[in-house]
Amino acid sequence: MAASVLPDPNSSDPKSQQVREMFSRIAPTYDLLNRLLSVGIDQRWRAYAVRQLSIPTPGTILDLCGGTGDFALQLLKNRPDDRIHLTDFAVPMLEKARLRLGASSSSPHGVFCGDALKLPLLDHSFDGCLCGFGVRNWSDLEIGLYEVQRVLRSGGEFVVLDFFQAGESLADKFGRFYCRKVLPTVGHLISGNGKAYQYLADSMDGFCGIDEFEERVERCGFDRVGRKRFSMGMCWLSHFRKV
Ligand SMILES: C[S@@+](CC[C@H](N)C(=O)[O-])C[C@H]1O[C@@H](n2cnc3c(N)ncnc32)[C@H](O)[C@@H]1O
Repeated sequence: MAASVLPDPNSSDPKSQQVREMFSRIAPTYDLLNRLLSVGIDQRWRAYAVRQLSIPTPGTILDLCGGTGDFALQLLKNRPDDRIHLTDFAVPMLEKARLRLGASSSSPHGVFCGDALKLPLLDHSFDGCLCGFGVRNWSDLEIGLYEVQRVLRSGGEFVVLDFFQAGESLADKFGRFYCRKVLPTVGHLISGNGKAYQYLADSMDGFCGIDEFEERVERCGFDRVGRKRFSMGMCWLSHFRKV
């Protein structure tokens, strides 16, 4: 498995290009803003998520849409013997991940550039896959889910953390206000790119709700293992096992 950054796959579909360019632009302030905007709670969500994996250690785990490596680092804190391969298609995010994970040719961990919808990976090569705040950005959810299904071994686990389309409860309304008003303002002040933080609210509105998401994952060859709602439903953890 490659430990170096491979050439950008230059996906041609417009949504993927827009997403890749946006994350490449905000990479320098991504971690700082995440901590500020979620007051550090996002790290607790990731820590809880990695503790749900029940596959034996050492396992080979894919951190899909791994960004700057937050999920991978949480995994290694909890399961230090695992071998982790992080992939993302925004090179500036990957460069930060490489530094943070200490990925090099002598390391058991790999960081490489890859499109989640066309993974440069062998069939049945992973015991588990984590995807933190990635699936909502895919231009075609089913293509990405079938890719995860293809690279996992039978019985392999898939753990997703993400924001889904909000409902009409009071908590959902508060979440919508926070994403629409607070995030873009603070995001603009710190990264100079309010639009990228406006995108978060737009992408949640354009995505499905948690129930529909889980049904779509099941239709791609997974069984549901469990789910957990965080921060009054602002964020969800969804856990599956490949059939
Ligand atoms: C919100 S960040 C999350 C990063 C990290 N997983 C975390 O928990 O902080 C979403 C990441 O998904 C990546 N991404 C989105 N669509 C992708 C795709 N089709 N292929 C690869 N990476 C993708 C983006 O480049 C970005 O780094």
